[in-house]
Amino acid sequence: IKKIGVLTSGGDAPGMNAAIRAVARSCAYFNLDCIGIYRGYQGLIENDFELLTARSVRNVINRGGTFLKSARSAEFRTKEGREKAARNLTRAGIDALVVIGGDGTFTGAMLLQQEHGFPVVGIPATIDNDINGTDYTIGYDTALNTVVDAIDKIRDTASSHNRLFLVEVMGRDAGDIALNSGVGAGAEEILIPEEDKGVEQMMYSLEKSRKAGKTSSIIVVAEGEKSGKNIFELADFIGENLEGYDIRVSVLGHIQRGGAPSCYDRVLASRLGVGAIEALLRGESNVMIGITNKIVTSVDFEVAIKEQKPLDKELRRVLNITTV
Ligand code: F6P
Repeated sequence: IKKIGVLTSGGDAPGMNAAIRAVARSCAYFNLDCIGIYRGYQGLIENDFELLTARSVRNVINRGGTFLKSARSAEFRTKEGREKAARNLTRAGIDALVVIGGDGTFTGAMLLQQEHGFPVVGIPATIDNDINGTDYTIGYDTALNTVVDAIDKIRDTASSHNRLFLVEVMGRDAGDIALNSGVGAGAEEILIPEEDKGVEQMMYSLEKSRKAGKTSSIIVVAEGEKSGKNIFELADFIGENLEGYDIRVSVLGHIQRGGAPSCYDRVLASRLGVGAIEALLRGESNVMIGITNKIVTSVDFEVAIKEQKPLDKELRRVLNITTV
């Protein structure tokens, strides 16, 4: 291996820049060329390439977003699109690819490998933390801190007005952000995609908290929760079924995806970036580089994508106890 391409794809996550930096610097360290590919798989199809030297990635470790830009490419989902991409990689003399992103990114990588035998290694970066085979994904820690900071502020006003707040956080398929920020910000209840008893549980908790004399409450709702109601409908439902609540809704949205990465995310990104290049040099491919019990590991893309990450039941129990 002499030349490695790197791209970021899917929803951006704080720490992606730190991961690109670690990949580019590892290439420099091992005397490999590093090619940055702009706009994810779309840039691969459109030959949007640039040489990244060790110096090209200065002053990026602290920046949110991704300077290589990110995209969700519809064309790469087609066989023809992937053919173009493979042709461009070969033409540019690139021997292997590092893809930084989430499950959609890894699915694309797997297909590129299967159809064209192209070596690819993945680095998990998504605020959702919904990738199996890694304890943490890059961006998750920063997003959690952003969410907790926002909920702390909401708590001030909720408490001043004796209000009930429903706060929507990201998490299409996974409740990690909701569960952890819920415990960390002292929420009364959480609604997450992994549990289908969410609404009954929430009504029960609200009744209980009122009886316990609580005057304001916060409920954290993951966007992918399964009640079939959106957050405004949920607020109406509570209003119709429980008397005496002054209810407000706050949707945190994309502020959760921005901002300077936390130290944890920078360190994680640095470790996984180095790990990805070392894995390629060992001849590994079709794997994601993850972290388990503080150790950098390789996990087959198949395992990372196909198996649903289990919910942290212990944390759910902690939430139930601490909201008594
Ligand atoms: O995959 C990360 C994520 O933040 C999800 O939680 C959310 O559903 C999605 O991205 C929104 O992405 P976008 O607005 O970029 O389409």
